[in-house]
Amino acid sequence: MKTRKYLLPAAVAGVLAISLSACGGGGGGGGTQSGGGDAAANLDGRGPITYVTGKDNAAVQQPTVDRWNAAHPDQKVTLKEQTDKADQQHDDLVQHFQSKDPGYDLVTVDVVWTAEFAAKGWLQPLKDKMAVDTSALLPATVKAATYNNTLFAVPVHSDGGMLYYRKDLVPTPPKTWDEMMSMCSIAKSNKIGCYAGQFQKYEGLTVNAAEAINTFGGKIVDDAGKSTVNSAEAKEGLGKLVEAYKDGNIPTEGITFQEEQGRQAFEDGKLLFLRNWPYVYNLAKTDGSSKVKDSFAVAPLPGKDGPGASSLGGHSAAVSVYSKYKATALDFAKFLTEDEQQKFFALKGSLAPVKANIYTDAEIVAQAPYMPTLLTSIQNAVPRPVTPFYPGVTKAVQDNAYSALKGEKSVDQAIADMQAAIDAAK
Ligand code: GLC
Repeated sequence: MKTRKYLLPAAVAGVLAISLSACGGGGGGGGTQSGGGDAAANLDGRGPITYVTGKDNAAVQQPTVDRWNAAHPDQKVTLKEQTDKADQQHDDLVQHFQSKDPGYDLVTVDVVWTAEFAAKGWLQPLKDKMAVDTSALLPATVKAATYNNTLFAVPVHSDGGMLYYRKDLVPTPPKTWDEMMSMCSIAKSNKIGCYAGQFQKYEGLTVNAAEAINTFGGKIVDDAGKSTVNSAEAKEGLGKLVEAYKDGNIPTEGITFQEEQGRQAFEDGKLLFLRNWPYVYNLAKTDGSSKVKDSFAVAPLPGKDGPGASSLGGHSAAVSVYSKYKATALDFAKFLTEDEQQKFFALKGSLAPVKANIYTDAEIVAQAPYMPTLLTSIQNAVPRPVTPFYPGVTKAVQDNAYSALKGEKSVDQAIADMQAAIDAAK
């Protein structure tokens, strides 16, 4: 499918960047915003729209769009898939918003981008005429789509980390991190890697580093957004990852893994344990090439004394303030939250629903035995810092966690630098 691409001359992009930063952390409440589009325009607009979303690894988006299109021939949705890499998805959206592209009508926003995009005036506030009833949705997903008390996106997929493990080699999954590490001898004797997560330098590393820090009692920022990461607990958490990488329990290539490389390695039978999101479940069960179809199961992430703390993941659908067809975009976003679609996402793609009732639906639980584990993971998940300056905050976490993993900085230094860089990001 064709999508328009706009390339901005550097000078124009520069001016735009200055005017955007001028609107900083304020606004977002509605009306016309400097730097953003007109939040009062096109509220009744109906017509063909484009839905932009990350690579459809689970193959659930196009059939969903087809279902909608069959019932709405005058308001057809075209799917635009981005790559499967979180950072590239983010940058693609930023470029299209900066060029005020009316062709990106409804976009998938990672939970950690809501504040940034809303503050820039790029997302249509979902209030008044555009209000959405969120009462059936998991509170954490609604909170993650809200900024300055205004809803800016419709939660569509939640996400929580789970531990995938080889039940043929480890009949009882580890409950704690140290227990998991002690099981690495099993990986060694089977000549496979022990543990992997997402340790390349990108958003997934922030997710994994935050999980390690939170699991051991650290906290990246306080409620006011000030960094509190420089603590003994955070050092212990990051230290666990660093130690595992140093002693080979995380294989050398582990620092090149995003979600997909880890999934591939696990499906190839090369890993004993993998931290990943629920989408991996159905693929590892059904991929023709998966060597572990019948030999894996999932468990809660291992923690300090019991289950670990997942970072809250997930995606919402946000109406672009530049869309001409905001009414259609919002209706399609709501359609994505209906039980039929949510069940389809769960059954076909093992994606985490945004509604609690789906997790306990008998048909779903029969096919997806991991559902209770996933719900617990999500209900106890810790959000990453909420701030319009998130790009700087995540960079502070990633850069320092990565340097520590590579042994370029001590854990103490990395954590101290992380705190300073987070506070400098605002
Ligand atoms: C998943 C999560 C998202 C996270 C990303 C990191 O897509 O849902 O919240 O930021 O992974 O790679």
